[in-house]
Amino acid sequence: TTSLKDAFKGDFLIGAALNKSQIEEKDTLSINLIEKEFNTITPENEMKWEQIHPQKDTFYFDIADKYVALGEKNNMHIVGHTLVWHSQLAPWMQNEKDSITMVKNIEHHVNTIVKRYKGRIDTWDVVNEALNEDGSFRTSNFYEVMGDNFIALAFKLAAEADPNAKLVYNDYNLWKPEKRAGVVRLVKSLQEKGVKIDGVGMQAHWSLEGPSIEDIENSILAYAALGVKVSFTELDVTALPNPWDLDGAAVEQSYEQYEGDPKMNPYPEKLSEAAAMQLANRYETIFKLFLKHKDKIDRVTFWGVNDGQSWLNYWPINGRTNHPLLFDRDFNPKKAYERVMALK
Ligand code: XIL
Repeated sequence: TTSLKDAFKGDFLIGAALNKSQIEEKDTLSINLIEKEFNTITPENEMKWEQIHPQKDTFYFDIADKYVALGEKNNMHIVGHTLVWHSQLAPWMQNEKDSITMVKNIEHHVNTIVKRYKGRIDTWDVVNEALNEDGSFRTSNFYEVMGDNFIALAFKLAAEADPNAKLVYNDYNLWKPEKRAGVVRLVKSLQEKGVKIDGVGMQAHWSLEGPSIEDIENSILAYAALGVKVSFTELDVTALPNPWDLDGAAVEQSYEQYEGDPKMNPYPEKLSEAAAMQLANRYETIFKLFLKHKDKIDRVTFWGVNDGQSWLNYWPINGRTNHPLLFDRDFNPKKAYERVMALK
């Protein structure tokens, strides 16, 4: 086979997050690769609250409309990301303290957007990152004003606005046992209230070392046991060290101080052969696990198309050269791509 989407046909969808210039089809090399390799897309930033609903009575749909049209033109499974999230939230909404107003604003937001794309956006990341690492609820402004009711509200509204859309709770580090338990509690409580939830999205911003396959597998099993699907929504494997993985003294320094430090950026130009092999091994192991549980997994989406376009060049430290995806900066498939394809 000649593409990821064909290789994994019948197993799960294969996707990529698209940036603005890709959505606007300004970037032909990207578009060619996206159309060839992927059958599902996610907007990296363009449907977040601050972008799509920048003022209380102003929605900005230009780019989102183009995004949906691009997906439809290619018969892709179209993901909406994300309706309710404390981050990249419009400033006018950030400090709302009145619960009645907050409910009204969430209603207006979810209804307007989900109805606009009814029958066209196939899956919604309804709520993003509502949990802490220990599985308790994050004390975002949403939570401070409404408690965890904002979560059920958002799911209820989305289900009413488009009964056929798949509704997902999305978060990072969902392999962690304590956070996993928090998601299980959340999904159960929604189900007990009769609120529709179809899936758990594991973001999957991972590294060469972790998380362990066992932890990921235990989460797949725990979520699937609730009767919901598991999606890997934002997969990438950083090839560079994260500051919090270094020793305590190092972590106390501000991230900016690492810029230019060879320890933090060991492959500034290109991946060494050895590192490319490590990345390939890691992706192979990850995809073996996905295939083992393909009956529970409906989608694997990469967070970006090629290495040069990945957010990991800017986060958590700005200006590093990272290599987290399956395609290099020239849009060529890497060793990791070959090893993933060889599984089929
Ligand atoms: C990231 C984007 O990739 C960046 O371009 C942006 O500056 C910040 O957000 N979890 C999510 C995604 O759910 O929306 C985030 O995307 C990455 C972490």
